[in-house]
Amino acid sequence: MAAVLLLVAVNLACLSVCGHVVSGERSFSVDYKNDCFLKDGKPFQYISGSIHYSRIPRYYWKDRLLKMYMTGLNAIQVYVPWNFHEAVQGIYNFTGDRDLEHFLDLANQTGLLVILRPGPYICAEWEMGGLPAWLLQKPNIRLRSADTDYVQAVSNWLAVLLPKLKPWLYSNGGNIITVQVENEYGSYYACDYNYMRHLRTLFRFFLGEDTVLFTTDGNTDREMMCGTLEGLYATIDFGTDTNITDAFNRQRRFEPRGPLVNSEFYTGWLDHWGDQHAVVDAQKVSRVLGEMLTMGANVNMYMFEGGTNFGYWNGADHDSRFRSVVTSYDYDAPLSEAGDPTEKLLDIRDVIKQFRDVPSGPMPPATPKFAYGFVTLSKAGNISGLLNILSPPGPVKSQYPLTFEEIKQYYGYMLYQTTLPWDLSEPTPLISPMNGVHDRAYVSVNGAFQGLLERDTVLVMNISGQKGDTVDILVENMGRVNFGSKINDYKGLVSNLILGKDVLTDWKIYPLDIDGAITRGWPQSNSRQSFPAFWTESTVGPAFYSGTLQPNGLAWDTFLKLNEWTKGQVWINGVNLGRYWPARGPQQTLYVPGPLLSSTQPNNITVLELEKAPAHLRILFMDRPQLSGAAGKS
Ligand SMILES: *[C@@H]1O[C@H](CO)[C@@H](O)[C@H](O)[C@H]1NC(C)=O
Ligand SMILES: *[C@@H]1O[C@H](CO)[C@@H](O)[C@H](O)[C@H]1NC(C)=O
Ligand SMILES: *[C@@H]1O[C@H](CO)[C@@H](O)[C@H](O)[C@H]1NC(C)=O
Ligand SMILES: *[C@@H]1O[C@H](CO)[C@@H](O)[C@H](O)[C@H]1NC(C)=O
Ligand SMILES: *[C@@H]1O[C@H](CO)[C@@H](O)[C@H](O)[C@H]1NC(C)=O
Ligand SMILES: *[C@@H]1O[C@H](CO)[C@@H](O)[C@H](O)[C@H]1NC(C)=O
Repeated sequence: MAAVLLLVAVNLACLSVCGHVVSGERSFSVDYKNDCFLKDGKPFQYISGSIHYSRIPRYYWKDRLLKMYMTGLNAIQVYVPWNFHEAVQGIYNFTGDRDLEHFLDLANQTGLLVILRPGPYICAEWEMGGLPAWLLQKPNIRLRSADTDYVQAVSNWLAVLLPKLKPWLYSNGGNIITVQVENEYGSYYACDYNYMRHLRTLFRFFLGEDTVLFTTDGNTDREMMCGTLEGLYATIDFGTDTNITDAFNRQRRFEPRGPLVNSEFYTGWLDHWGDQHAVVDAQKVSRVLGEMLTMGANVNMYMFEGGTNFGYWNGADHDSRFRSVVTSYDYDAPLSEAGDPTEKLLDIRDVIKQFRDVPSGPMPPATPKFAYGFVTLSKAGNISGLLNILSPPGPVKSQYPLTFEEIKQYYGYMLYQTTLPWDLSEPTPLISPMNGVHDRAYVSVNGAFQGLLERDTVLVMNISGQKGDTVDILVENMGRVNFGSKINDYKGLVSNLILGKDVLTDWKIYPLDIDGAITRGWPQSNSRQSFPAFWTESTVGPAFYSGTLQPNGLAWDTFLKLNEWTKGQVWINGVNLGRYWPARGPQQTLYVPGPLLSSTQPNNITVLELEKAPAHLRILFMDRPQLSGAAGKS
């Protein structure tokens, strides 16, 4: 009843130009009569940009938000990644880099409204589309459907998340104007209206009847059909190469009245390992943005500030084959990965100036960058020699291999160990007949590296050795599929390996807590003096290398280049910067946010190289990124 009264009041206000709003009343709604949003009873058009707090260190949130505000945006669009907050079922983390309310507060202080997208599925090129991998403990769980276990987990999560957000709703004095339900649900095969109805009920229950809830779907009838639901305002998304009249006409077919909304207008695009670096022309972005704003449409630019897939948070696609997303989420966006204004941003600001007042004053400059130069590392050891440190609980024994999910180690790397059942005098094929290496396996026999298997691409390799020799198979989870029908993406050895004609059995499976060991100070805390590897130790096969960047009084942003290194993962002062793979490209440098460096103490660097380190063992800190190179080597 209250909702109906509010709507009537709001419509009257919209019709009369001067708008006699009850003083002090904050409201945000859809005006179906005049095809617009209403904010405090007045027509409102948003010009928004996407920014993901999970991809930016907390220290820089305010800087990025201020730059967005100074571009002339009046709103930001934000995803909430469920797995970032509930990594372990029932244990929630909303502190530090995960402090969503602090982020909302900073946006509010900056003068930015918020379009919130709490999922529960978000896609976002984020690991498993934001779903926690522990959902996969139920073997045949139907994700993003009315599956009882899935819905139960979703309900528990939303019962924690949504009440936190309620005070941040615009009508409650906060800055959240609209809330998206699910994400591009129409592109998912299940097309399960019961699931969407359940979400609608939960969102209404926790956020109230007056909150503007909406859906976002791709620009096809099928997607709009499966993704939309009565009571959730239907919006569409598309990029610069789409005919905008056709696209908004399609939105109109599903939402005959109300504001035109492009919820994801693509300013750039993502990269996978092995791709050419994606670039979207700035002139095109500005032109199409201007056209949409001229039509009175509400536009969110995806991304405005992309940031970084730190740690293991990158997602992956699985269309014709598994392709994992690179560490950088620069996205060729108007603000670079390091938060610097680009030409594209200045062009966009010029367009926005034609439609609304852009705050006066200078655009905050790029943060300072520093080229700290070369650091030479030394070998800190190999995986099998460090198991007491990396795998304190020791191995799980199993006749056949178990998945990461069965071991309950969801991210990173695990070691599968067995012994050769007989002498291999000839090179003998080691086969993954069911394509069950998810996603890369680095194989050594008695410590000697013999090669690797890779999902969808390398399913056979030869090994040799003697009966009883130890076979070490280090398996890397390259990020779970975040889009499409294959998001039940189990990791590890998900099916048997065959040696010659026989199934390999009797495994010892070591969960590896590399991040935990590094957080506790390893390897720098080890008293053992380590020597440069040069001639004495092999640099082939998975191994750790460590060293220190000497402090020079600065803690500025920098970019780490691992020239001639092959593939691996880097930590600095305990922070997992993500994966490097210059050999495959296109990304050549990793973003190192200045605030994680110490200006006064030696900075601890640890590298896990999976294949082969160069003899020089040098890494280079540069003052600019290199996101393009060696592409197409997949
Ligand atoms: C929560 O996340 C922050 C990083 O954002 C981390 O520093 C902290 O240790 C986490 N807390 C727990 C209990 O895991
Ligand atoms: C948001 O900022 C405004 C001032 O800009 C303030 O009045 C309001 O209390 C803030 N809201 C919250 C929830 O902090
Ligand atoms: C968009 O499509 C419409 C027909 O639906 C056509 O009339 C118009 O010329 C197209 N616009 C562009 C820029 O191609
Ligand atoms: C791995 O490390 C252990 C212990 O440091 C060492 O004994 C072994 O030779 C190393 N293996 C290789 C292949 O380097
Ligand atoms: C494995 O070795 C056999 C015989 O030595 C050879 O013919 C075959 O090409 C090798 N296979 C691979 C994948 O290296
Ligand atoms: C580097 O590691 C050592 C040993 O664990 C530790 O004492 C020191 O504080 C670390 N340095 C920084 C900058 O974190």
